[in-house]
Amino acid sequence: MAFILAAAGSAVGLGNVWKFPYIAGEHGGGAFVLVYLACVAGIGLPVLAAEILLGRRGGGSPIHSFATLAAREGHSPRWSAIGWLGVLCAFLILSFYSVVAGWALSYLWYAVSGQIAAPGDGSLDVAEAMSGLFAGLLASPAALIAGHTLVMALTMAIVAKGIRGGLERALRWMVPGLFVLLIALVVYAAATTGTFLAAARFLFQPDFAALSWEAVLVALGHAFFTLSVGMTAMMAYGSFLSRDVPIARASVTIAGLDTLVALLAGLAIFPIVFAQGLEPGAGPGLIFVTLPISFAQIPGGAAVAVLFFLFLAIAALSSTMSILEPVVEYLEQRGGWTRRRATVLLGSAIWTLGLGCALAFNVGADFTLFGMNLFDAFDYLTSNIMLPLGGMLIALYAGHVLSRDALAEELGPLPAYVFRSFRFLLRYVAPIGIGVVLIYSLMF
Ligand code: PFF
Repeated sequence: MAFILAAAGSAVGLGNVWKFPYIAGEHGGGAFVLVYLACVAGIGLPVLAAEILLGRRGGGSPIHSFATLAAREGHSPRWSAIGWLGVLCAFLILSFYSVVAGWALSYLWYAVSGQIAAPGDGSLDVAEAMSGLFAGLLASPAALIAGHTLVMALTMAIVAKGIRGGLERALRWMVPGLFVLLIALVVYAAATTGTFLAAARFLFQPDFAALSWEAVLVALGHAFFTLSVGMTAMMAYGSFLSRDVPIARASVTIAGLDTLVALLAGLAIFPIVFAQGLEPGAGPGLIFVTLPISFAQIPGGAAVAVLFFLFLAIAALSSTMSILEPVVEYLEQRGGWTRRRATVLLGSAIWTLGLGCALAFNVGADFTLFGMNLFDAFDYLTSNIMLPLGGMLIALYAGHVLSRDALAEELGPLPAYVFRSFRFLLRYVAPIGIGVVLIYSLMF
């Protein structure tokens, strides 16, 4: 149980509530969502199971696990490179993720201090006021840095103490809490906006003519990002997993829950987008503008806003700690480093890198990498290139290098056809699918 909770806590985060709706909006909805669902089921899910089982079999930090497996089962030690790719990914992802988690904390403050409300003097309408609130946040280096700093400090405090304990207790009610709140918001949106059907059509009615290779790449990358796979974070959690837990079933539960949260977030947000005449492709600010519009109008909305941003912040923290954990574990197990020292050193380095991502929204907007600001560049590079590449290597390793018997032993008893399909997905569908999407989207 504790494992499922921690792994679901890692998977469910800003990726579901913040990123999924805005990229679905940017890429035209239905067809993008369908490709994303196919990528989760056909590629993300098998890679998730593979990561967990490799972690359990290796029993250490991801880099150590690959080394252990190599020595014990006679594979090349070079596969540890997957672990190093994961370390690099962890640095880049956490540095921008922490900035967005900081937005959630800022909004928690706005909610507590009564700023998420219709303007009393009638000078602006709610939509304008809430857009202004978000624009104001992005324009303020001090506010962005403060949020990012608080997130990194909290993440480091949790990881330094060891991830079990306090956070597990918080997660026990956070995951169900976020779930119930999202359902309530969907029901509210359905009952009051009159645009629920338009939103459902936007999300679920595919228009393949609007689908580009770029959109397919983003959908694939997001399948990895949202499930926390491709950078060995789930391997690290797998190393704590006891032998009697059936990995296949645990993976389906985690991926199912994660997908449900994302779809609920979409169904809560898009009715408001359409009702208010907002732009579905408005970008990273989408939830921070739309949901507050709703909160400002719901009776008792101030309290709902506090709860929502509190849950979102906790969901984000249970993801940030899972990004830092494998890197800290590596330094700790290599010897000579206490957990505390490793956490402080790595956390500070990531915090420094994150300053660049925070400033990308204002004073550093002109600093670009591959034609994008630093925040977008880190997001693009990790989600769309590094995670799929890591996932491809993990699939190749678990599907072709690890023996069939070892794979069967770790997955636990399964009907023969399920095992065969799973292995087929790992051996062929995942690596070839990822390869084709990477090549096409980068070429066209
Ligand atoms: N899965 C997290 C989310 O959707 O918010 C983000 C994430 C966590 C990505 C952990 C990668 C990772 F290793």
